[in-house]
Amino acid sequence: MLAIRKSHFSNRRVEKAMDGFFNILLDSFQRTSGGQTMTDQPFLTDVKTLRERARRHMDRGAVTANYGADPKVVTDILNEALATELVCVLRYKRHFFMASGSNAQSAAAEFLEHANQEQQHADQIAARIVQLGGEPDFSPEGLATRSHAEYVEGDSLIDMIKEDLVAERIAIDSYREIIAWLGTRDPTTRRMMEEVLAVEEEHAEDLLGLLDEYNA
Ligand SMILES: [Fe+2]
Ligand SMILES: [Fe+2]
Repeated sequence: MLAIRKSHFSNRRVEKAMDGFFNILLDSFQRTSGGQTMTDQPFLTDVKTLRERARRHMDRGAVTANYGADPKVVTDILNEALATELVCVLRYKRHFFMASGSNAQSAAAEFLEHANQEQQHADQIAARIVQLGGEPDFSPEGLATRSHAEYVEGDSLIDMIKEDLVAERIAIDSYREIIAWLGTRDPTTRRMMEEVLAVEEEHAEDLLGLLDEYNA
């Protein structure tokens, strides 16, 4: 690293400044990785304690002692996201089958693709709920109430696209809030929701493109 640094920074003052910077980095790394210089407590939990903890409450599966959130609260939130995805699957399926006529082809293709992606999201979310020790709620009863996004049939192709765009924007807002709340409490669920959110953002962009295409 030093050789590269020297070849790139021939000026002595810059080199000195860089030396200072690297020393600070090195010092901070040693403090956090070794731990012994700052505190007597080791930075990482020792192996024996980790193993003991893992053996205790094995029935909790992926939810270990340092899981930072209440799994019940997380699975409740995820069940709302699951309902949102399921309602989106149903709405996109309805729109796909109702989009008729030669000029509806590109919209129909998007509706079908989105329906399939919402189904994948629903599956991912359901699997995570089970991993956290909860039960995914697939009950049709109350589905529309549990969902954040709405099921709107739409009278015309343009209506359908607009309603889908509204639903995506609702999902985007609510998933952003869920992600912010999860923070460092549950990084795995947060990452999953971040991936889902990225796809919802693409969906919204696709729909806006369709509106443009149909000059709506
Ligand atoms: Fe989705
Ligand atoms: Fe979506």
